[in-house]
Amino acid sequence: MRNNIVAGNWKMNNDATQTRVLINDLNKALEEVSINCRVLISPTSINLTSAVALTQDSVIEVSAQNMHQAKSGAFTGEISAEMLKDVGVKTVILGHSERRTYFGEDDKILTEKVASALENNLEVIFCFGESLEDRKSENHFNVVESQLKNVVLSLSASSWKHIVLAYEPVWAIGTGETASPEQAQEMHAFIRSLLVDTYGSSVAEHVSILYGGSVKPTNAREIFSKEDVDGGLIGGASLKASDFTGIISAF
Ligand code: 13P
Repeated sequence: MRNNIVAGNWKMNNDATQTRVLINDLNKALEEVSINCRVLISPTSINLTSAVALTQDSVIEVSAQNMHQAKSGAFTGEISAEMLKDVGVKTVILGHSERRTYFGEDDKILTEKVASALENNLEVIFCFGESLEDRKSENHFNVVESQLKNVVLSLSASSWKHIVLAYEPVWAIGTGETASPEQAQEMHAFIRSLLVDTYGSSVAEHVSILYGGSVKPTNAREIFSKEDVDGGLIGGASLKASDFTGIISAF
């Protein structure tokens, strides 16, 4: 069946020393618990190389938070899929709401980014989710459907071996407000139904759909217990080894 996954998105946190300390703490903490899911961390790009080295003998996998869609060229400040691969990164987060909101990443850019990542054999964690306004106006299913249709639902069925979906309602990110387990399940089941309609159930059943938005050790178990919730994309609580380990132990 599909993988359960707990992925930490560190965002713009942790310098080189803090990255080393947190990874060492996590490596130690994870030796003490039974792990029934894939575990990923996403440090800032400047610390990816050291993160890969520090997780060489660990269950932890390293992903990037972003990449540019072009192969190379005059794109000051950017990093390509090939460069990520070159330092041993195998997964990249794309479409995070912070990238969409603060850096103007729209469906067209994200389509190009996803294509470039897949061409380079990177796994993609594709993020999407509605705003508070969309939720209040009961437009959340339409918004999510168009975010998926405009970017990933036109990909080939075989691409889905390399795609993880992350539903992150914007109103729950960093706010302390979490979607209820029922709200998460309702949306995840809807997302899976879109996959079934487009690709059939054998593809749909193998796609991991993560929930993101104020997941903590105290609410992870209940959220992850829902049938179509296959794990979490964790922001704030991934920055503390004990909290992140607590969430991993929810599986
Ligand atoms: P928080 O867990 O801090 O709400 O962040 C969620 C998120 O944006 C993960 O990508």
